[in-house]
Amino acid sequence: MTQPPAGRGIRIAGTGSSTPDNTLSNFDLEKILDTSDEWIQQRTGIKTRRVVDQSTGAGTISLACESLANAVEDSGIDPKELDLVICASVTQEMTCPSASCRAAHHVGATNAAAFDLGAACSGFLYGLNLADTLIRQGRYKTIAVIGSDAMSTVLDYTERGVSILFGDASGAAIVTADDDPSRGCLYQSMGADASNWQCLYLPKREVDIPEADRDNPIEMGKLRMNGREVFKFAVKKFQEVIEDALENSGVDIDDISQLICHQSNLRIIESAREKLGLEKDRVYVNIDRIGNSSAGSIPLCLDELNKAGRIREGENVLFVAFGGGLTWASSLWRV
Ligand code: ACO
Repeated sequence: MTQPPAGRGIRIAGTGSSTPDNTLSNFDLEKILDTSDEWIQQRTGIKTRRVVDQSTGAGTISLACESLANAVEDSGIDPKELDLVICASVTQEMTCPSASCRAAHHVGATNAAAFDLGAACSGFLYGLNLADTLIRQGRYKTIAVIGSDAMSTVLDYTERGVSILFGDASGAAIVTADDDPSRGCLYQSMGADASNWQCLYLPKREVDIPEADRDNPIEMGKLRMNGREVFKFAVKKFQEVIEDALENSGVDIDDISQLICHQSNLRIIESAREKLGLEKDRVYVNIDRIGNSSAGSIPLCLDELNKAGRIREGENVLFVAFGGGLTWASSLWRV
């Protein structure tokens, strides 16, 4: 896993994204919760987030369809060339059919297999790492990876400790085989440890709720989080996965042009940036505008950077994520 196998490279052929038009600001939240713009900005760096209008039927699937269509257009490929569509999400509307099947149909990817993947906020990187492996291995040539989450649909807006953090977004990337073997994923890692799963979970039934959390007032079917525990885990894990990726790939931190972190909380991202001694313009941040959009977060950052001309051929980009499970992942690309 440490070096790309010789013979076949991979490139990111196109990216896309979708965010709802509706904006929910800290000031809007002040009207419904015992919170303040100052508290939210200081603790998370968030000013606004985007939320779908559920009355129109918008949600994870519509966001996924739009971001994939956008990525297909950006790549210039014929959607019939897609061999596989993977959609990572923690807010699946239906388990059957999957969001990936719907998105594939939406863009006319009639030759693609499709499935959804659940690894919470790490989901897009799990999908990207899998796509890299399948293309390297030779059976697949072109794969679309989507991360799509309508977090507002699983939030209890009477609960200030959780609802202030999240927003809705989707992003997608089309990856395809390339003749240059030096391009593609140089190193990838994925991990999971459920020994502390109770610090971030989405119960469907009463029985899903652990004994110690029975008095938690959060509505059933809505996200529950022990923010302090997740915070501690995230700060430690970001550091570990970044060090692991640099050490095992042999790529120097000075040769990373962009570090794209899951937008969990600005303080978590800043902690990683400061420990690595990276300048601000090498660590992308959009959490101030978008909030934490779970699996949508990393591909949205990638698309914004790509459309701004900041993903340049030959440069190294390091992606890192952590999320519910608890899960984590890294993916280091020469793009
Ligand atoms: N407004 C005002 N006060 C609040 C709010 C709020 N929105 N939320 C909590 N508080 C209060 C608490 O009640 C507490 O008060 P007390 O000291 O009187 O008991 C105090 O503020 C501190 O609460 P903490 O929960 O310790 O606050 P913390 O500094 O940890 O910030 C936060 C909370 C922002 C949630 C932080 O813990 C965090 O970002 N954690 C990481 C979460 C994360 O990244 N989750 C996503 C994982 S990715 C995925 O897979 C979905």
